[in-house]
Amino acid sequence: MVKDLSVFLGDLRLDNPLIPASGTFGFGMEFLPYFDLDILGSLSFKGTTLAPREGNPVPRIADCPAGMLNSVGLQNPGAEHVLTQEIPALKKHFHKPIIANVSGFSVTDYVEAVRILSAEEQIALFEINISCPNVHGGGMAFGTDPAAAAEVTRAVKKATDKPVYMKLSPNVTDIVSIARACEDAGADGLSLINTLLGMRIDPLRRRPVLANKVGGYSGPGIFPVALRMVWQVTGQVRIPVIGMGGISSARDVIEMLMAGASAVQIGAAGLRDPLVFPRILADLPDVMEEYGIQALRDIQRVE
Ligand code: SIN
Repeated sequence: MVKDLSVFLGDLRLDNPLIPASGTFGFGMEFLPYFDLDILGSLSFKGTTLAPREGNPVPRIADCPAGMLNSVGLQNPGAEHVLTQEIPALKKHFHKPIIANVSGFSVTDYVEAVRILSAEEQIALFEINISCPNVHGGGMAFGTDPAAAAEVTRAVKKATDKPVYMKLSPNVTDIVSIARACEDAGADGLSLINTLLGMRIDPLRRRPVLANKVGGYSGPGIFPVALRMVWQVTGQVRIPVIGMGGISSARDVIEMLMAGASAVQIGAAGLRDPLVFPRILADLPDVMEEYGIQALRDIQRVE
């Protein structure tokens, strides 16, 4: 029997739950040689700041047995350039809802970037990154304190009519309190998790592998942590959650939806093998059949 892969993020219907995660898909163009972008449910573009940024010094990627470390430092061409150059190029090839991932170093930064990008019709929702572990004086600082997370949420909500999803950090003792603060401040949804703060050392040189010394760990190794956090948060909030962190198979997608997520993002797996997106899409109907699932959106959160 034909399976129904469609899911909903609030009122927004996606043809399927697969969304490339911000920072692992650029603005889509590098993936054009591999597959038709329109097979995706949506895509979350590279974290965009008000002003252009060159990012952190290299090396800023380190390999790990079950994933990778990055300390990119929010390299991006700035909100105005994204609006006038990157999105028009992407729109020629991608006709699905776009998720605009926005980062900032102050509340005003977030608000101004969101105001600029709100002009683009194809942007269906904002994903506000308050969880970047690779920059100082912003990023994760907003996502590790409930009051600061709420302040950014309230300010961004006032700046746009589009739905606002807050992207949360796992580098906290109680992610539920941050999630609740965002919901109470008016967030329409949440995205979680961002990367786990990690480190590698080069024993020969006796120094950290990354120029920034520490970075964000992502990949299959973090999947159980992400699943646990999504499950904890979805048990305590009423707004939709986009689940991410180490997803690399159709079974992982099903598990994440069973943890209460409404859609999923895939990051590190797509960097290792861009064809993971068409592969998971092709595998999903059989895996759904195996678990007796007819429609993805009917999956209930496990207790
Ligand atoms: C980066 O650009 O440093 C990654 C973004 C993030 O982890 O939020």
